[in-house]
Amino acid sequence: EEQSTFRHGVVRILPDGWLYPGTTPRFLNRIQSFKFRPDDVFVMTFPKSGTTWMQEILWTMIFNPNLDNPQATQPLLVRSADISVDMMFDTVKLDEVNPESMYEAFKQLCPGKNEEDGLAVQCLDAMPGQRVIKCHYPLDLMPPDLLDKTKVVYVARNPKDMVVSFYHFYKVIKVFDYKGSLDKFIKLFMDNNVVYCPYWPHIKEAWKKRNHPNLHFVFYEDLKADPQGELRKLNQFLATDLTEQQLKNVVQHTTFSSMKSRGDPLPDKGLYNEELHQTSGGFYRKGVAGDWKNHFSQELNQEMDKWIKENIGDSGIHFKMD
Ligand code: A3P
Repeated sequence: EEQSTFRHGVVRILPDGWLYPGTTPRFLNRIQSFKFRPDDVFVMTFPKSGTTWMQEILWTMIFNPNLDNPQATQPLLVRSADISVDMMFDTVKLDEVNPESMYEAFKQLCPGKNEEDGLAVQCLDAMPGQRVIKCHYPLDLMPPDLLDKTKVVYVARNPKDMVVSFYHFYKVIKVFDYKGSLDKFIKLFMDNNVVYCPYWPHIKEAWKKRNHPNLHFVFYEDLKADPQGELRKLNQFLATDLTEQQLKNVVQHTTFSSMKSRGDPLPDKGLYNEELHQTSGGFYRKGVAGDWKNHFSQELNQEMDKWIKENIGDSGIHFKMD
């Protein structure tokens, strides 16, 4: 049951013990030889930390600051592909694939490509112009000179809200199909037995590099509290030179309710346990800071506080919990 957060084989990648689907090492090799471009922008996150939100913010800042670009109606996965998604496709493929699955959608985006070589990497290769690239792999698994080649925006979210969001996601996504309780899930998570774990080395490595000129570190909670202020910093980091009005446009276009109204970023029904997906609010579930308070028992909260304290150590990371 320890592996119940993933229905297919998993692998631990050393030294930090990243828990990923079994095919991942093959795709990591492809990334070592990936053709980075100097104007690429990577959105790097531990899952459920605000990845999609930041992808939409950056894409809109770069390509749609006046909100008049007709391409904006394309699904986000077309406008901003995920370099780390191949590991999931490969395992989805082993499953009974719904013809409308995201995997199939991706294959259509990259006609004639060889699946073995990683569809995401090939799609990204074929993408013209500037790219906003999603990446759940940590810096540790990317080429060591990544920050010499490209810019990275790292989004971190407090682990209590992140894990609640993660838990819902693991219940609604078919390849995970998690059936246990939240308490059990959080224990698996704290023991690094959930796919994508461990959480701490992911965030700590980026935090250590937060003053690197090509890395911008931002907290979900700060983005939520003062989006215009955070977008001003991104405007500097990206050298996009947007006006205050344009930044305001982007903020309005990327609020939770605005993004939710435009529909799910994973439009494919085959990916979800559909009934649960409907009742839990869908991909845009809640979009707030502090929702963990509606889900945590006092005991669980104490346990997690202890775990956070032990792991945060003297890193200097400070999370806002509400
Ligand atoms: P919740 O499940 O807490 O609602 P990711 O994109 O990394 O998978 O993260 C998903 C989380 O970000 C979900 O959290 C989702 O609702 C939230 N989110 C997505 N868009 C958002 C937005 N525009 N504003 C605030 N939160 C957003």
